[in-house]
Amino acid sequence: MIYYFTGTGNSEYVARQLAKQLLEMPYVMNANSPVEPEGESIGFVFPVYSWGVPPNVEELILQMPASFWQRVNVEQLPVWIVMTCGDEVAMAPEMIKKILKKVGVAPESIWSVIMPNNYVLLPGFNVDSKEVEQRKLKEAPGRIREIGECIKAHRRCVDVVRGSMPRLKTGLIYPLFKRWGISIKKWHSTDACVGCGICAESCPQCNIVYDYSGRPKWGPDCCSCLACYHSCPRHAIEYGKETAKKGQYFLPPNLRK
Ligand SMILES: Cc1cc2nc3c(=O)[nH]c(=O)nc-3n(C[C@H](O)[C@H](O)[C@H](O)COP(=O)(O)O)c2cc1C
Repeated sequence: MIYYFTGTGNSEYVARQLAKQLLEMPYVMNANSPVEPEGESIGFVFPVYSWGVPPNVEELILQMPASFWQRVNVEQLPVWIVMTCGDEVAMAPEMIKKILKKVGVAPESIWSVIMPNNYVLLPGFNVDSKEVEQRKLKEAPGRIREIGECIKAHRRCVDVVRGSMPRLKTGLIYPLFKRWGISIKKWHSTDACVGCGICAESCPQCNIVYDYSGRPKWGPDCCSCLACYHSCPRHAIEYGKETAKKGQYFLPPNLRK
């Protein structure tokens, strides 16, 4: 059984590829996820946010009922983690270990998979060039196959790209991201918006509604996955002035499903 959370499709893609290889069922990680553990192992696939675990993923894991974790432990179902990232995960493996410790679970293995970057909210951060995006998408299947083989062989490992200064990034920058990373007020649509509804459909938190003017409005549950921004076919969604000149990325349609 594989749970995944995704904003722009990367983690869903990785989860689906692994599901095919391991003959497991992939499930979207949300409050209504199935609660009976099943299959040979339990996998969690999600993106890395600010060199840590997305706060909503932590919440979703912690809100799974105690009976779920009891069965995982009693039946000795191995738990494995795959984090997708644009480049590096720093100390995110230690963070997910701590979260899982709270539910009495020690993961068997943790991997990272480098996928196209979708983070654009701060100055200096943008999506990858088309060449880099294509290279990452070309290299991902080999990495995913390798991970699948290790899961089947029950290899115990932490095999991730940490990058430079990992303690500083996770220890110092992640808490700032958690506290200040998203300002709901900054999300808005421009006059290019035609009210098509794609942004609302793409929001994994169901956090976008349409007001009387036919324009999207953001509720309080934004998890900063950027699905709304990247899915807009008219680049009509902006975050303050930060994103006006930034690119967009969404997993290409031929890789979905
Ligand atoms: C809020 C936010 C923070 C991110 N922080 C990091 C990071 O610390 N390191 C990194 O390599 N990529 C980072 N990224 C990029 C994503 O982890 C990466 O593109 C991921 O594959 C997106 O997965 P998804 O398509 O399943 O949402 C970040 C993306 C977002 C939206």
